[in-house]
Amino acid sequence: MSDRRRPRKTITLDHAAGVVEKRDHALAPGRVAKQAARLRHLATLGLPATAPLDKGEGWARYPLVEGPTLHEARPLTPEQTSALARLLDAAQAADVYIGDMHSKNLIWADNAWIIVDCGAVRRWNRARGERQRARFRGVLGS
Ligand SMILES: Nc1ncnc2c1ncn2[C@@H]1O[C@H](COP(=O)(O)OP(=O)(O)OP(=O)(O)O)[C@@H](O)[C@H]1O
Ligand SMILES: [Mg+2]
Repeated sequence: MSDRRRPRKTITLDHAAGVVEKRDHALAPGRVAKQAARLRHLATLGLPATAPLDKGEGWARYPLVEGPTLHEARPLTPEQTSALARLLDAAQAADVYIGDMHSKNLIWADNAWIIVDCGAVRRWNRARGERQRARFRGVLGS
């Protein structure tokens, strides 16, 4: 199944409680648990990712990050642009390539980009680092 057709998880934002609940789609079990483990791993490395507050069979709850996604925030302010460059540098310094780090998976809050979703986390290498930067070329400049 292509990425576009892949069933998504169900996401419920509770602004009053400041919590986001993510639940597996019936046709794609295990995605939420995988995502939770990846985000926790990134947070453990000191990267700005939302670690789950708690989780169970097919669900996880996260702190709700209030702010625009990078997709919504464009065109970025100079401050947002340099924060994005710093985030890419921090991933490299932590020796990780963060899969699927795109403009709807980053939220601007407290003057930083927070990672709220990602794909597989791999070891950083030059080719992957370049691919990561290429995703944001239009935003960061070449
Ligand atoms: N912790 C959070 N705080 C605020 N908003 C969030 C949070 N997590 C997710 N969101 C919002 O919900 C959107 C979708 O969430 P997420 O990226 O986890 O799922 P998805 O991309 O639909 O799932 P997948 O790519 O795994 O199929 C995000 O783009 C973001 O706008
Ligand atoms: Mg996403």
